[in-house]
Amino acid sequence: KPIYVLGGPNLNLLGTREPEIYGHETLEGIHTRLRSLSGDVPLEARQTNHEGELVDWIQEASREGSAVILNAGAYTHTSVALHDALRACKVPVIEVHLSNPAAREAFRQVNYVAPVAKATIAGLGAYGYELALLAAKSLTGQGEN
Ligand code: DQA
Repeated sequence: KPIYVLGGPNLNLLGTREPEIYGHETLEGIHTRLRSLSGDVPLEARQTNHEGELVDWIQEASREGSAVILNAGAYTHTSVALHDALRACKVPVIEVHLSNPAAREAFRQVNYVAPVAKATIAGLGAYGYELALLAAKSLTGQGEN
């Protein structure tokens, strides 16, 4: 079963969007690196700017995936719909943020994802995705050991 790597709004702009905060790497670059690290484990790596589409994909991952790595972007801080979808999700969810929202603006201190995630990795840039993939493989019994 694939590990779903899901990205929310504006992550399609990675590489050019506030690189001092989010880094110079594109999302496609991150996904390519994850694929090379994932070995035999299939990845479903997707990005959308639409809240409902993220909800649909989380439901799909719950039925057809083994784990979810989620960077919900700004919906992290606003979406009860996402929270409810994650709460219903039957597979482990690892939340990732490139930046560390805890060290940023007040409006980023609300988080609807963290309480329904297995773990959160934030502030490590693209490396956080690699750590999340290692963790997801291990949690789903597809790790190296
Ligand atoms: C982000 C942090 C969010 O606060 C922000 O809205 C994003 C990116 C991150 O990866 O650091 O879009 O999720």
